[in-house]
Amino acid sequence: MTTKTAKLLDDLDWDFADTPMESGVHTIHPYPAKFIPQIPRQLIQLFPPKSNSVILDPFCGSGTTLVEAINTGLDTWGIDLNPLACLISRVKTTQLPQSLDFAAEATAQKARQCFTAGDVQIPSIPRLDHWFKPEVQQSLAALVTEIDREPTRAVREALQVTLSSIIVRVSNQESNTRYAAVENTYTAQDVFSQFKNAALTINRALLTLSDNLFRRLGHATVLNRDILAIKPEELPNNVGLVITSPPYPNAYEYWLYHKYRMYWLGMDPMEVREREIGARPHYFKKNAQDETDFEKQMHTCFQLLSQVMLPEAKACFLVGRSIIHGRVIDNATLLQRAAEPAGFIVKDVVTRNIPTTRKAFNPTHSKINREHLIIFGLQ
Ligand SMILES: C[S@@+](CC[C@H](N)C(=O)[O-])C[C@H]1O[C@@H](n2cnc3c(N)ncnc32)[C@H](O)[C@@H]1O
Repeated sequence: MTTKTAKLLDDLDWDFADTPMESGVHTIHPYPAKFIPQIPRQLIQLFPPKSNSVILDPFCGSGTTLVEAINTGLDTWGIDLNPLACLISRVKTTQLPQSLDFAAEATAQKARQCFTAGDVQIPSIPRLDHWFKPEVQQSLAALVTEIDREPTRAVREALQVTLSSIIVRVSNQESNTRYAAVENTYTAQDVFSQFKNAALTINRALLTLSDNLFRRLGHATVLNRDILAIKPEELPNNVGLVITSPPYPNAYEYWLYHKYRMYWLGMDPMEVREREIGARPHYFKKNAQDETDFEKQMHTCFQLLSQVMLPEAKACFLVGRSIIHGRVIDNATLLQRAAEPAGFIVKDVVTRNIPTTRKAFNPTHSKINREHLIIFGLQ
């Protein structure tokens, strides 16, 4: 990295405290600990990869890096263990062949007919009666069945994300981050209306992908895999830039946050929990994991990256601290210890403050106020 780039990196604002909240395609579905889009955007400008290389996010979550990459015309690969993360990432990076609101209107109409005729099969989901009123269950089940019948994959997946985006709102769950059951006044008709309204909003957001006819969009490939099980041959070997925010110990729980969305879409959150790096249950069981396990997991990830990155490529990792059983864990130092034996050196570290307005998903047990952006290069 040149001295000029290093100076620029240090001088730039990484807090984005005064920039407006994200808009367009980034807003179509909530996701815990998602990137502020300006972070990957600024990193792509600072470390522009060669035009024939790809941008990789090995923990792509809801696809913020992927959206920013395709918007600059670059091809990109994202990997995530969570099938809902991959679904959201695919939808955010795929132009629709037809309008989503028309498809949602037709789906809702057929689902309403099945609901009225009592022709609905409720899927087997644990504690469904606790979290969903009977008529909400029936309307959601009717929507799921009709969505599955949509023949065009891109439209079907956009409808699934639409449904997922309203699940918590129509459930008895107090809010996205509060797991208490409360009185809910939603009727079946409200569920169908919420679904159609969400489709209108998502359709408008997805149109921003194609709002500039003169811009070439890059192509995104999304792999629903455990990063620890991926072999280098499964990835392109021309990675020109890595931008990611990894999961870290005992901090956010993606499987839990999305549990009922996943159940309704036929995905298994409990299977994801087993392999989710950092998930809290791993730190509270017999033979519990600790930070050394996280260091080993990140080392495996860096070994993979070292085999697919171009020699001059950078790997940018954004990470906060954790608290495990009352001990503060400095994940930035752990990442550096994991990266060095895999052939990486630290090129720069920038500390950013997380503006209080952006901390909606901040888990109270780790109270994260600051994060470190670490830029690695190959030795
Ligand atoms: C901080 S989030 C990424 C958020 C993303 N930057 C965004 O903007 O949406 C970390 C991600 O790591 C994923 N993850 C956890 N364990 C994983 C594993 N073993 N393999 C692949 N992904 C994993 C989680 O599902 C989660 O989506």
